[in-house]
Parts: sequence; C-alpha cells; structure tokens
Amino acid sequence: MCGIVGYIGEADTKDILLNGLEKLEYRGYDSAGIAVLNEDQLNLFKVKGRIAALREKVDDRVSATMGIGHTRWATHGEPSEDNAHPHQSVSERFTIVHNGVIENYYEIRDEYLVDVDLRSETDTEIVVQLIEQLYNQVGDVQQAFRQALSLLKGSYAIAVIDNENPDVIYVAKNKSPLLVGVGDGFNVVASDAMATLKETNHYLEIEDKEIVLVYRDRVEIQKLDGTAVEREPFVTEIDAADTEKGTYPHFMLKEIDEQPFVIRKIIQEYQDENDSIKLDEDIRQAMNQTDRIYIIAAGTSYHAGLVGKQFIERLSNIPVEVHIASEFSYNMPLLSEKPLFIFISQSGETADSRSVLVQTKELGHPALTLTNVPGSTLSREADYTLHLHAGPEIAVASTKAYTAQIAVLAILAVDTAKAKGINLSFDPLKELGIVANAMESLTDQKDAFDRIAKDLFDTTRNAFFIGRGMDYFVVLEAALKLKEISYIQAEGFAGGELKHGTIALIEDGTPVIAISSQENVNLSIRGNVQEVAARGANTCVVSMKGLEQNEDRFVLPQVHELLAPLVSVIPMQLLAYYAALHRDCDVDKPRNLAKSVTVE
Ligand code: F6R
Repeated sequence: MCGIVGYIGEADTKDILLNGLEKLEYRGYDSAGIAVLNEDQLNLFKVKGRIAALREKVDDRVSATMGIGHTRWATHGEPSEDNAHPHQSVSERFTIVHNGVIENYYEIRDEYLVDVDLRSETDTEIVVQLIEQLYNQVGDVQQAFRQALSLLKGSYAIAVIDNENPDVIYVAKNKSPLLVGVGDGFNVVASDAMATLKETNHYLEIEDKEIVLVYRDRVEIQKLDGTAVEREPFVTEIDAADTEKGTYPHFMLKEIDEQPFVIRKIIQEYQDENDSIKLDEDIRQAMNQTDRIYIIAAGTSYHAGLVGKQFIERLSNIPVEVHIASEFSYNMPLLSEKPLFIFISQSGETADSRSVLVQTKELGHPALTLTNVPGSTLSREADYTLHLHAGPEIAVASTKAYTAQIAVLAILAVDTAKAKGINLSFDPLKELGIVANAMESLTDQKDAFDRIAKDLFDTTRNAFFIGRGMDYFVVLEAALKLKEISYIQAEGFAGGELKHGTIALIEDGTPVIAISSQENVNLSIRGNVQEVAARGANTCVVSMKGLEQNEDRFVLPQVHELLAPLVSVIPMQLLAYYAALHRDCDVDKPRNLAKSVTVE
C-alpha cells in the first residue's frame, strides 16, 4: 500500500506529482504530501486526507523541476499531517517518501538514532534520519544511502532528495513495487506506471536491493556493492485512456460493465488459429507433472481460487487445496511429492501471497502466477505467468479481475485435462462467449438491481448471502463486495450451515439473498430460503434460467453450469454498488482499504 511518485526534468513538478498521486490513490488515501526542490529551496506540503485536499494546499506560486510525492495507507502511526510523507531529516537536508514496512525500526532507532528527536510515529522517518546520521559520519551522500539500505530489513520502495543536489533523486526498492520511467530530458519514479503514463510509456524494472540514481538526462542502476547494472526499458501496454473513468460516475461501475469485453479478450488471447486453447508449453508441463495444486490468494482472488479448485478437480482430476495467503505459513499442510503452487493476484503485489512464494521457492517448488499485472512482483518471481487481460482495475473493490481469474482458471483446467488425454465435451472458449453475452444482458438491466438494492439494503445493518455448491463460493464474494463498499455487515454462508447457529441472527426484515444456479442443489437451497423466510427474513432468490420459480426476484440467462459463477456474480456486484450509492459511501475508495496490499 502507499504510492510514491517522483519527477526530475524541466517541467513544473507540482502538477506532475499531483496528477501521478491521483492515479495512485487506489493504493491508500489516509494522507498525502509532496516535496519539490528548486535551486535554493525545498517546499513541503502535507495533508491528512486525500489528494484533492493536497491540491488545494499546494501553493501555486512555487515552481520547481524536481520532487517526490506520496499517498499513504497508514501502517505505523495514525493518519495525520505529522505522519504524512514526505519526511525530513533533523537538519531538513534529506527528504524521503516510502512505501513498505521497515521491520527493524526499533533496532535502528535504538542503535543509531538515540539522540535524534523523531518528529513522527512512522517507520519511514527512521530511514531518512539514518541517512543523515551516516552522511554526517562518511561525508558522501551515495555512500550514506548505500549504508543505510544495507541496514534496513523489511519492505521498501523509497525516493530521497538531497537539498544540496537538485540534480538527482536517490531511489531503491526491496519487496515493494517501483518503476523508473525514462523520458527525453526527464525521468520519473512511480509505484505503478499508471501514475506517470502521461509522461512516458518506457519503464525500467528495478530489482530488489538495487540503488538507482535518477538524473534529468540519465538513470544509473547499481547493485548495493556499487557494481553498475545495464538494463533496457520496456514499453508498458497500459493505455492512458484505460485509467480514466470517462462518462462513468465510478470506476467500479465502469469495471463491472467491462466484464463482457474482458471475457472476449481472454477468449481471443487464449485461442489459437484452430480455435483450440493456446497456452505456454511450460505451463502445460508443470500442470501435467504435479500431483497436487496449492492455490494461494487473498480476498476476492481467494474466492476465485475456490471456484478454480472445482474446475481443476472436476475436469482434470488433480487434487487442489486453496489457502488464504496470510495463513498458509502458519498452517502449512503436509505437501505432496510434486506440488505446484498457483498464486492468484490481481495486482501481483500482495505481500501475504509473496511471502508464501518466497517460502515455497526456497523449498524448490514450481510456481505459476495468475495476474492482471504481468511485470508485477508475483509475476516476475514465479516460474510462469498467466495474464488476466482485464485492463487496469482501479476501483478498490475487485470486479472484472475476479471474473477474469475464473475464466482463465477454466481455460487452464480444460487445457490440463486435454493434455492428460481426458475426453471433455466442455469447450471453455465457446462457453465463455455465451457467458460474455449473458453478462452484457445483466449489465443492461442496472435499474432492476438498483431497485432490489433499495428494498434490501437501504435501512438494514446486516445481510446474509446463501448458496450451495459452486454458488457458495459466489456468495462469499457477494458478501465481501457488499461489506467493503457499503459497510453493511454481511456474511456469505453455505445454505445448509445457517441453521447450525447463525439463523439466530435472522429477524424481521433481515435481507437474505440466495443464489441458485446449480441443478443438484436447487431444491435444497430453496428449503433454506423457506427456513429464513419463516423467521421474517426479506428474501431474494437469484436463479439461473431453467431452475427458476415464481417468487424469484431475478432470473439469470442460462450458461454452462460450471461457468455460472461468472454470471451470478454480476447481480451481486451491482447490488453492492447500488447499496453503497444509496448510503452515500465512497464507492471507489472505501474507508480503511487500499487496492494493492503490499504489507503483511
Ligand atoms: C476485494 C479485493 C481484495 C483483493 C485482495 C487480494 O474487492 O479487491 O480482497 O482481492 O486484497 O488482492 P490481489 O488480487 O491484488 O492479490
């Protein structure tokens, strides 16, 4: 979490930094700040709150051609102006922005900074104070920067400026994402290329523990020991237009609407000229050689993993376990002889998943990452990557990445089955085409979901979602979507489990939303709906065509049963969206959250 941006060139830096931070706000929005340096003066502006507030605070008269900025998701220290970045050293000569967590904060403070009067509660401040202390000893900024980095433990993407040298930004990373963008007469630094796409589409990947000196006319990359590193920039595929809302009121609504296009894009990307599945041969082999798959993910991606397990087990006969990334290390199961780890992550930066990847790599196990960001950490560090092709997902609540993950998992499962010689009548590429049309017909009926959301959620403080079989996994996602953006306490339950305790919470008017898309559980989930209706619940059944009954509130277009989650989730996303809208919630940037969770 947190986003950093930097610019050094000829143009006025303020707007470049502020525009960049706006694009990074999805990474956290508790506080923000920029520091800009001209020949003789450093100007620092910080606010508690969002970039819009920072924009108002920044003095228009200040002009500078280099600077750094930060948008924060608080880890150490509450959201406040004091804790907002950039932070300065005691003499105010050095200024820093940082994304990550310094794990040996206390050790560094107690060993190197006992006489320093710290001004904030952040772990970041100790880095800039350490640089100054070391500079006072060695008299050379680069050396002090290098020494400081060698003492730090934890994750960081940092950019530092030295008041006495307006010609360079000192940059480094470990575990946290960071790119350096190269331009003609200027260079930029950003947590995500999205921040600086207006400036350049050429970027240099930075490896962990490298030091980068970013000048106006060149970028020098060094290893920690000072050895120079040569690297060519890559051209990012992100289109600047994809990062704009256009005429939509919210990114979330735009991204819900984009799902049919994403599914069609996935079909196109994973189809060869004979209309068969196109997949990297190495991935095929890895899937073929494993005796058990371990899916590791968090949040919405974990929910996609639960659906993926069904595909892989049912179609290709490989046992699959799905684990919450943050728990895996503490509850590590006995691994099979030939495990394959599949990491599912929209951002490719989730620290909890990465920590499992580091661990399993140490054990020598192969890893495949499914991600929307091919150059991301989880993609670079895994052996293989499958791209989700969903385009930038900016709303904090994930929608199109979830459906993209499920679609790609279906393709992977079928490809594996075929490679194993299993005869299937299920053609995922054809069936996904039908799904895309079904999704479109749902996103065309927004008014219906707006009305249902009003009836169900306008005055409630809690809600339950129930489903069985595949539908159970979708209701987990439905509940997460509703709670994270509308703040209504919501729970997703296996239909049959409610009566084992939780049914005690059902009162007059409690909303209970049931999904019924699977024939084998249609009657039993309806029994569960009757149980809660008898206790006063305000029930809403969303069923698949062919399984519908008169009292159902919404009937989904029919798609292949296995792919039903791709369709049944759309009403759930729209219900959550309208519930949040009716409650005046900040749909795209819900409180306390950040999109890319780069701390464990
Ligand atoms: C919820 C949501 C989160 C993410 C989770 C993992 O809408 O977006 O639950 O799914 O933080 O993020 P990624 O997929 O980037 O690893």
